[in-house]
Amino acid sequence: MIDINKLAHRIISEKHHVKVSVDMTMGNGHDTLFLARMSDHTYAFDIQSVAINNTRSLLENNHQINVTLINDSHENILKYIKEKIDAAIYNLGYLPASDKTVMTNSTSTVNSLNHLISLLAEEGIIVIVLYPHNPEEIAAVIEYTSKLGPCYDCMEHKILNKGSAPFIITIKSNKKC
Ligand SMILES: C[S@@+](CC[C@H](N)C(=O)[O-])C[C@H]1O[C@@H](n2cnc3c(N)ncnc32)[C@H](O)[C@@H]1O
Repeated sequence: MIDINKLAHRIISEKHHVKVSVDMTMGNGHDTLFLARMSDHTYAFDIQSVAINNTRSLLENNHQINVTLINDSHENILKYIKEKIDAAIYNLGYLPASDKTVMTNSTSTVNSLNHLISLLAEEGIIVIVLYPHNPEEIAAVIEYTSKLGPCYDCMEHKILNKGSAPFIITIKSNKKC
């Protein structure tokens, strides 16, 4: 059985040098820790303070100090980040074993993607992990990525014989575009 989070990390690992990375949905910090280990600096966003606390503990336990934790919606990314971004990840949905009513939604996800893309470096990558329990958000992300211009390559990575499994959409920005 494919582990979708490991696959997401493997796709990002193809990048050899990551100066700046962003975890757009910090949660318990597993993606933040992964990005921090391969980046000069990592930013991570979440609207829930429990996510900030859990991620801070995980980073401290792993002696990872190159991370800025931001307790705000990823929609406000332009308020916090002015540099070019080499790699970013979204793990959409709700925090496991927590309040399932606090979850990502199509409007804020697409708004944040639009801002994130304006900061994406040449040959930068965005990896989005999507879950079938939010079809409206899936439809919005597919519509947004399908309409991006030729400076970007957008791909869907899906298990074809397991319709209810999570899947990945990647956005890569092309060189000199
Ligand atoms: C599936 S969890 C993320 C899992 C996480 N990446 C990890 O490694 O544990 C989704 C997270 O997105 C957060 N979230 C929901 N809406 C958000 C928003 N507008 N901005 C930032 N984070 C948001 C939730 O609070 C939740 O913690």
